[in-house]
Amino acid sequence: MKARKTYAIVGCGSRSEMFYGALARDFKETSELKALCDINYSRMALANRYLQVKYGHASVSAYGADAFDQMIEEQRPDTVIVTTIDRLHHHYIIRALEAGCDVITEKPMTVDDEKCWAILEAVERTGRSLRVTFNYRYASYHSRIRELIMQGTIGDVHSVHFEWLLNTQHGADYFRRWHRDKRNSGGLLVHKSTHHFDLVNFWLGTYPETVFAFGDLRFYGRENAEMRGEKHFYQRAFGSEAAKDDPFALHLDQNENLKAMYLDAEHEDGYQRDQSVFGDGISIEDTMGVTVRYENKAILTYSLNAYMPWEGFNVAFNGSRGRIELKVVEQSYVNGGGDKALEGAAEGASILVFPMFGTPYAADIELAEGGHGGGDPVMLNDLFGDPEPDPLKRVASHRDGAMSIMTGIAANQSIRTGLPVRVRDLLRR
Ligand SMILES: NC(=O)c1ccc[n+]([C@@H]2O[C@H](COP(=O)([O-])OP(=O)(O)OC[C@H]3O[C@@H](n4cnc5c(N)ncnc54)[C@H](O)[C@@H]3O)[C@@H](O)[C@H]2O)c1
Repeated sequence: MKARKTYAIVGCGSRSEMFYGALARDFKETSELKALCDINYSRMALANRYLQVKYGHASVSAYGADAFDQMIEEQRPDTVIVTTIDRLHHHYIIRALEAGCDVITEKPMTVDDEKCWAILEAVERTGRSLRVTFNYRYASYHSRIRELIMQGTIGDVHSVHFEWLLNTQHGADYFRRWHRDKRNSGGLLVHKSTHHFDLVNFWLGTYPETVFAFGDLRFYGRENAEMRGEKHFYQRAFGSEAAKDDPFALHLDQNENLKAMYLDAEHEDGYQRDQSVFGDGISIEDTMGVTVRYENKAILTYSLNAYMPWEGFNVAFNGSRGRIELKVVEQSYVNGGGDKALEGAAEGASILVFPMFGTPYAADIELAEGGHGGGDPVMLNDLFGDPEPDPLKRVASHRDGAMSIMTGIAANQSIRTGLPVRVRDLLRR
């Protein structure tokens, strides 16, 4: 039986509910939630209300962001869970490690190489543990691919062709929120692709060596809309006449959770969750292509487009003894706009194996319920429950967190300079 552990959560927006809900209800035998911390007291009050009404848990102490150290001192949590905006992950990870806590952080571990380096240095200096929550590793079809590759089904994997499609609902959502400012999220090649680049590292058991990328804003943003002949612009959907006819507008006042979490909380920090995807000030790309050479000489060709008619991905693995093709269609969603268990849930998945000389066949996969291809509940059990030893080694360390973002960080540098980037040069200190 796992020893009972205590937790505090910093960053109490949409994603934090998965963690506090699990601690409060499903893992209450092994876990105790002690406190919340956020810059926004209204969002913490909402989390405390949800703790009581949805999860049958008492409310917990709420600390402002400037009282983070005080929270650690008073509550002495064993582990701090970091679910703030990406730009601030490093800040809370390092402070928690220095205060003697272990840390579980949401992806991406951070957004640039300086911050990544500071985190790695803090882990080494403090000797504490840092885990990154790569829930996609735990989706049944991703685990199955890892198993097939580990079993040598197609021999050595020499190349991977991976395209991820974000659609006009979920994909558009990154252009309405804090993510649209590259300083906050590192752009989609860090914020979103950290999942995909981590999967490639995990599947192939290797790390990236050299990265080359192109990326542009071709669809969202005011200039692109103007070029397509759009004449009616607005800054944010709430209270806007023009937004009423925009299929890309998000109406916060029409969704109970989004209203309570963002609209009713914005008087505190001014954060607008419903900005126009065709507004000014978007500094992230929506159209990206990346080539990666790995330490084991495998090659990845990768693309990410954020305005597609469907949501999901295709991956093909070419090996010395055959080829595997994985196709998954995901349920589309708006973050925090509905049932959490359906966020990124799989609608359909297939794995086809093509032996070099044999008959092609479909590999069996069990589609599991739950967010992110059924990965969320399995990962939560791995974090807070009493899991069996895992032959697939899905637990992601700080090193895995670093090597997944380094592909995107190197890709960002390549986009800026037009040159290939060696990951080792970025991490050299
Ligand atoms: N693994 C996944 O599949 C997955 C899914 C969604 C989100 N996420 C990650 O979860 C994190 C949170 O995303 P979200 O969708 O909940 O965003 P969100 O905007 O709903 O929540 C972010 C929270 O951070 C808080 N915050 C802002 N500045 C702060 C500060 N200085 N100190 C403390 N808190 C501060 C905000 O007030 C807000 O409550 C992100 O890192 C995101 O990448 C991961």
